[in-house]
Amino acid sequence: MEKNKEIVLSGIRPTGFLHLGNYFGALQNWARMQYEYECYFFIADWHSLTTHADTRELRSNTISLVSELIAGGLDPDVCTIYAQSDILEIPELYLYLNMLAYKGELEKTVTFKEKARKQPENINAGLLTYPVLQAADILVHRSHFVPVGKDQEQHIEMTRNFAERFNHRYGTVFPVPKAFSYSDGLIKILSLDGTGKMSKSEQQMNTIYLKDEDDLITKKIMRAKTDQGPQSPNSKKPDYIEGLFTLLSLVSSAEVLAKYEDDFNHCRIRYGDMKKQLAIDLIRFIKPIREKAAALQNDPAQIDEILAKGAEKARKSASATLSEVRKALGFK
Ligand code: TYM
Repeated sequence: MEKNKEIVLSGIRPTGFLHLGNYFGALQNWARMQYEYECYFFIADWHSLTTHADTRELRSNTISLVSELIAGGLDPDVCTIYAQSDILEIPELYLYLNMLAYKGELEKTVTFKEKARKQPENINAGLLTYPVLQAADILVHRSHFVPVGKDQEQHIEMTRNFAERFNHRYGTVFPVPKAFSYSDGLIKILSLDGTGKMSKSEQQMNTIYLKDEDDLITKKIMRAKTDQGPQSPNSKKPDYIEGLFTLLSLVSSAEVLAKYEDDFNHCRIRYGDMKKQLAIDLIRFIKPIREKAAALQNDPAQIDEILAKGAEKARKSASATLSEVRKALGFK
C-alpha cells in the first residue's frame, strides 16, 4: 500500500523498561502509523543524560528498549529505528533553535519544574533546554505528526512555537508539527495508586512493565488501590478506580468492560472480581510481547545492525533538512 507523504517522528528515553503508559501512550500508535506514514522512531539517549548521568547501562538499556519496541509491534523493515546519538545534525539544529528559545518559557515548562524539584542538586542546562533538543529531534526530519502521550503535549506545543519562529525569521523550512493519537485526545495511563502517571523509573509496584512475569502482574493488580465501592448510583469514579477502568477498556473485551461499568453504576461492583479479570486480560496481552522481547535481546548484534541501518536512513533525511536550514540562515 502507498504510504501517506507526511512524516512521523517519535522517541523514547532509554531510562528503564517499557510500561503500559509507554505502550498505550506511544508504541501502539507507532505500530499502526508505520504502515500509513513515513516513520522515524528513535532512542533518546542524549535526553537521558539530563537525569541519568551514569552511562554504564546505556548500551544494555538501548538493546533492551529496541527489543521491546520490536516485540511491541515496530517492524524495522517498515519504519526507521535509530539512536539519537548517531545523528550529529540534531545538535547542530539544537544550537540554532536555542537562539529562538527564551529562558522564561523554558523555566515555566512543567517537566523542567518537576525534574528540578526531584534533582535540586543537578539542575543542569541540558534539563532547562530539554524541550529545545526535543524540538530538534522532531524538526530535523521536517515531521508533521508526533505520536506521544499526554505528558509530552507541552513539549510539542513548544516545538510548534520554535518552528513558527524559525519560519517567520528565516523563511519557511519546517512544517508545524502536531501531537497525534488515534484515540480521542492524547492518552495518560495512571499509576496503580492513582496518584500520578505510570513512569519508567519510579513506583515499581504501581507500574506494570511489559517485562513483568505473570504472577507479578497479578500481584500488582490485586494490590492496586480500591475502596468499598460507590455509595450512590452513577457516581463519579475516583482517579484510582478510573485508572483500572481505563486498563480494562484497553485490554479486556467490550462485554467485560460493559459488565463492570454497569456494576459500578448500580453500586454492586466487586473490585476483587474485576481485578482478577483485569489481571488475566493483562497477562494475555503482555506475555507474547515479553517473550518476543526476551528472545530478541539475546541477539544484540542483530539490534546493532537495525540501529546502524536506521541511522543511515535518518542521517540522509537530517542532512537534507540541515542544508535547507543553513541556506535559510545564510550559511553556505
Ligand atoms: P518518555 O521516554 O518519557 O516516554 C515515551 C513515550 O511514552 C509516553 N508515556 C505515557 N503515555 C501515557 N501514559 C503514561 N503514563 C506515559 N508515560 C510515558 C510519553 O508520552 C512518550 O510518548 N521527551 C520524551 C522523549 C523524546 C521525544 C522526542 C518524544 C525525546 N525527543 C521527540 C517525541 C518526539 C520522553 O521523555 O518520553
